[in-house]
Amino acid sequence: MIYPIVIYGSQTLRNKSVDITPDYPELKKLIDDMFLTLEEATGLGLAAPQIGKNIRLFVVDCSPFADEVPELADFRKVFINAEIYEVSEQTDLFNEGCLSLPGLHEDVRRPVAIRMRYFDENFVEHDEEFDGYPARVIQHEYDHLEGKVFTDRLSPLRRNLLKGKMTKLANGKYRCAYKTK
Ligand code: NI
Repeated sequence: MIYPIVIYGSQTLRNKSVDITPDYPELKKLIDDMFLTLEEATGLGLAAPQIGKNIRLFVVDCSPFADEVPELADFRKVFINAEIYEVSEQTDLFNEGCLSLPGLHEDVRRPVAIRMRYFDENFVEHDEEFDGYPARVIQHEYDHLEGKVFTDRLSPLRRNLLKGKMTKLANGKYRCAYKTK
């Protein structure tokens, strides 16, 4: 099933999400449905809070970057109970958007590389380093688990300038091509 996407203003996006165990009900179906939902909305990543579930699960699809970075052609990954434990000192800017904040696109500064532990869809543990586009998308999705959205990372001045747009979002005044709630 394709889930409606939770829009900015909902408390679900502000809650801190909790770890899950391998016996989480219908986990495989949930993961499949998250990829379906992501594809339908043509996004790069989707975190469980964005479909109304405050659990530490997100999916990432970096295949749209394959034109530029061929090895990302099959980068479709599931991250369960992820923990980013190290980030690079070097940062860069990237123009981010979010399915939960339709119509908003802003340059966000983040570390270029991360080290993290996570479980995959088969609950196999990984300890891995990511950089470039994957690191960017992973950090964005990881923020959702912590109750953060990308606009939280902008300067106070920039956030102030976006206040009107964000209030409109929270009041349901937006348009987008996918199902929302
Ligand atoms: Ni997002």
